[in-house]
Amino acid sequence: MSGYFDLIPLEPFGYSKAGLPSFPYLEPSQVLLLEALEEHTFGTVTDLSARGGAVALTLASKGAKVVVSDSSAAALSCLAQTGLPIGIFDNADCVIAILNGERGNARVQQIMLEAWRCTKAGGVAFLAGDKDKGFDRYIKEAGKLFGETEIIARGKGYRVARLEKTNLETPNPLEPMRFEMTARGQTLKAVAYAGTFASGKLDAASSLLLEHLPSGAGRKVLDIGAGYGVLSGFLALEGATVTLLEDDALSVQSSVDTLAANGLTGTVLHSDVDSALGLKEKFDLIVMNPPFHVGRDMRLDVALEFIAAAQRHAAKTCEVYLVANHFLPYEAPMSKLGRLETVVNAKGFKVLKVQVA
Ligand SMILES: C[S@@+](CC[C@H](N)C(=O)[O-])C[C@H]1O[C@@H](n2cnc3c(N)ncnc32)[C@H](O)[C@@H]1O
Repeated sequence: MSGYFDLIPLEPFGYSKAGLPSFPYLEPSQVLLLEALEEHTFGTVTDLSARGGAVALTLASKGAKVVVSDSSAAALSCLAQTGLPIGIFDNADCVIAILNGERGNARVQQIMLEAWRCTKAGGVAFLAGDKDKGFDRYIKEAGKLFGETEIIARGKGYRVARLEKTNLETPNPLEPMRFEMTARGQTLKAVAYAGTFASGKLDAASSLLLEHLPSGAGRKVLDIGAGYGVLSGFLALEGATVTLLEDDALSVQSSVDTLAANGLTGTVLHSDVDSALGLKEKFDLIVMNPPFHVGRDMRLDVALEFIAAAQRHAAKTCEVYLVANHFLPYEAPMSKLGRLETVVNAKGFKVLKVQVA
């Protein structure tokens, strides 16, 4: 049986791993991109949604000079294994990206702007996505940005569009959201870049967790899947020393900026669960609101690894707090860490606590 961090080789190229959409298979958007690009030849290519490298390696095998990028730390661990250079050609002949809508419209807009920025004048972008996740609407917008659009492949509800950069008018950049929230008798200034979880508001589950967490004063806190840093932010305002782990690069930047906006310090790591955290690092308060979707599927493998990571990083005496939708089955894995208590079950959510001692 493979472990959470194992890379699964894909045929003929690339990898998948837990935490990537469609794991352990290739994403349907990538399958269609491979079909659509078969007849093309390229000079320089930037793949902005490279995932486990399948499309990028295929193009490299045909002689293209390819660099890869992805916002997910899990994807970057696959890409590191491919040997492909990680980065962005700013003036690429060709740019590839997936617009899957799962992090919302603002994230898609951000990816389209980045695709436009790094495509050279007269160059082409190939954008893939799911019709049921707003692709036709996104491509209309991308068409206005680039100038010319054509759908070149269709299959099983997925699409690939070819866009030529004929419009050279620089679009306005997307600014992060800045907002304030009050909890625990304090006000936190938050900064959230496009597509960060619950941008612009305090999520209902996170709010319930904040109502029940102990004071952060004097505590060494680990926040797994930190988003824009709301849980750590409030605990740091009370005097906690905070370490934040987050898979998504723009969410990492959001957490960094949230702490800075409040004059707080902390360690923010771009990390697939705890992959970026030294094994010897231990904490006496661990908090999490784990994701239970990967791509379009409900999947608990990431959440279960959050709980396993809590066990790896619990100090001899430690409290682990988790908030989740009431129906998610976290009691059994949580109780492996120590004495389990349901702190509250309300408004469709539950807060579970384990006392490790
Ligand atoms: C439900 S959100 C909670 C965010 C934040 N803690 C809050 O309460 O607002 C879950 C977070 O886990 C992050 N995440 C998803 N997969 C992850 C992984 N493999 N490693 C680390 N973080 C991950 C998501 O990007 C998201 O920010």
